[in-house]
Amino acid sequence: MDGPSSRRRRPLSSEGTPLPQGNVTSGIVRIGDTVRRPAGPWTPAVHALLRHLHAVGFSGAPQPHGIDERGREVLSFAPGVVAWPDHFELLADDRALARVGHLVRDLHDAAAGFTPPPDAQWQVGIPAPDGDLIVHNDVAPWNLVIGDEGWVLIDWDGAAPGSRLWDVAYALHGFAPLSAAVGPDGVAVQAHRVRVLAGAYGLDEAERRGLLPLLARRAMSMHQFLAEGAANGVEPWARLWADGHGESWRADAEHIERHRTDRERALLD
Ligand SMILES: Nc1ncnc2c1ncn2[C@@H]1O[C@H](COP(=O)(O)OP(=O)(O)OP(=O)(O)O)[C@@H](O)[C@H]1O
Ligand SMILES: [Mg+2]
Repeated sequence: MDGPSSRRRRPLSSEGTPLPQGNVTSGIVRIGDTVRRPAGPWTPAVHALLRHLHAVGFSGAPQPHGIDERGREVLSFAPGVVAWPDHFELLADDRALARVGHLVRDLHDAAAGFTPPPDAQWQVGIPAPDGDLIVHNDVAPWNLVIGDEGWVLIDWDGAAPGSRLWDVAYALHGFAPLSAAVGPDGVAVQAHRVRVLAGAYGLDEAERRGLLPLLARRAMSMHQFLAEGAANGVEPWARLWADGHGESWRADAEHIERHRTDRERALLD
């Protein structure tokens, strides 16, 4: 319904600078040094987590600044470039990849001391097989801002109880990347990058053994999640499924399974 008062209000899109559209969230804008994103029932818990991370010295996440007058979450704007899809070359060398491993390790170490508020509501899309801390659940180059002032993980909507290995398995998929679309030479590169990132994270041998079966399982969980969303007509999952994301995750899961020995060597030798 349109009326005199709503006509006086400026439409959302004309306020602030629209940020590049991701796959899931629309209407994200930058206003000054802040980002405004649609809030959800999970936002108070996510902001409590972000506050905790900063309080214990982890700076690789946006600062939370509450909810604005339009009901959107307010976060600090992280200056820099998002690594995927346009700047993946910045993660080509081992040093850069190791920095990602350290970042994820620091994040998990910082999150381990977090006690969620008693009424915390998380957006649990894909339940982790076990959960002893709150993890990000979408640690990937499309959520990594590479900036001169630091590297920052953005897009915390999916944070939820999980395990270090569950989050690392997902991160390895995105940062190696463990994509089915590689030639035979690419498999060796993938195995090397898995070794570098897992090494920088500092997984011990038992954790490396535990990680191996999770790599394909984590990718397959994405396929199943999108398939279910599509079958039930839930957006944006149905759209992503129609665009081929579900198929791509399935192909990657099968690829990971097919080359399991390469990764066993990379992680255990
Ligand atoms: N705190 C931030 N600092 C800087 N840029 C940001 C921040 N939050 C979002 N952006 C910009 O907005 C884009 C989309 O944000 P975001 O990743 O939160 O959306 P999404 O649709 O949920 O993404 P995805 O496709 O990963 O699910 C990012 O790629 C980035 O360019
Ligand atoms: Mg994102």
